Amino acid sequence: MFDTIVRNARLPDGRAGVDVACRDGRIVRIAPAIEGDSGTVVDAGGHLVAPPFVDPHFHMDATLSLGLPRLNVSGTLLEGIALWGELKPRLTADAVIERALRYCDLAVAQGLLAIRSHVDVSTAPLVGVEALLEVRRRVAPHIDLQLVAFPQDGLFRAPEAEANLIRALDMGVDVVGGIPHFERTMADGAASVVRLCEIAADRGLPVDLHCDETDDPLSRHVETLAAETTRLGLGSRVVASHVTAMHSYDNYYATKLIPLIAESGMHVVPNPLINITLQGRSDTYPRRRGLTRVAELRAAGVNVAFGQDCTMDPWYPLGGADMLDVAHMAVHAVPMTSREAMEWAFHSVTLGGAAAMGLPDPTLREGGPASMVVLQARDPIEAVRLRATRLAVIRDGRILSRTPPRIAALSLPDRPGTLDPATYSPPTGETT
Ligand code: FE2
Repeated sequence: MFDTIVRNARLPDGRAGVDVACRDGRIVRIAPAIEGDSGTVVDAGGHLVAPPFVDPHFHMDATLSLGLPRLNVSGTLLEGIALWGELKPRLTADAVIERALRYCDLAVAQGLLAIRSHVDVSTAPLVGVEALLEVRRRVAPHIDLQLVAFPQDGLFRAPEAEANLIRALDMGVDVVGGIPHFERTMADGAASVVRLCEIAADRGLPVDLHCDETDDPLSRHVETLAAETTRLGLGSRVVASHVTAMHSYDNYYATKLIPLIAESGMHVVPNPLINITLQGRSDTYPRRRGLTRVAELRAAGVNVAFGQDCTMDPWYPLGGADMLDVAHMAVHAVPMTSREAMEWAFHSVTLGGAAAMGLPDPTLREGGPASMVVLQARDPIEAVRLRATRLAVIRDGRILSRTPPRIAALSLPDRPGTLDPATYSPPTGETT
């Protein structure tokens, strides 16, 4: 009668002791003590069952490359970009695919089933694009992977970047990217925003720009992005990523800017793990945190969704495909410790990320997708506090991964979980 049933679940909306019955990849019933046969039964044991995690901002072409060809000694964004420039000519598609697939295995075990990854298109040949298009194909049964054509060295600053970006879009890359604050001048940066939004409008594609990832209070490209979003009617197809300069804006300017962002309908994606380490590097003391104005954006009605950005690459030596780590850092770095805000931080890395990526609403409901994560936590706040163990990861009614419960706080689990070979084919193999 059912393919899979998750028994004794607690849902993010507070409902407890309910069963979630799935058939043909959809949730067909949510109710207490559902009767009927099921091929697979998952006992949630009263734990939280939530939609899968979503990472709306990542760099999969660089992931797991830490130390290649050397380490980032200063820890700065600029040394990271320089280091990436040294690594790029040595990249092979096979190596990028191998690292990306390892990351995707880790992601699945962490219940992270939707990722938007930027891929550098500054220089030809487009090794990263070719590799990640292949990765997108292989992981499709398990992960919704979107790719962003990202001219890392600047649309105008890198001579071939625009032609390469167009070529990447022609090859099937999903989203138009950019980095206006890295162009030679503020004027070039603003012009790049206009050009990129027009390319996206012409092609009917989303836009996702690294926007004002700097401590410079005069870096105001998000203003141009909001204006272009409104002018071209791009609305919720647009994401402004990072936006760290907003931390340093004059308060009066911020009170003018935030309503323009809200009016445009764009999303904002801060990346707290990496920006708490990258920003403020030129400061002595007091040292700025460099996170964007999350509370004010939320209050204005803007969808704010946190991203991971990097894992073990030229910019960030840590990370682990764990969106609860991201939410946990956001709670501290923003900071936001009211119960409402901590619960919202959890939803930001599930529902908020899905909205930013333009994915269907993943809320667990009858008729909705049968994709969910069983967490060893009672509620969203406890999940963030403990970075809760993913007891089971389910996609379209199939169990992809299970992890043993954490026995005690001092007895840390082996992470990631053991992928279930019965239902999970590692994306390193061919998929049908
Ligand atoms: Fe980024």
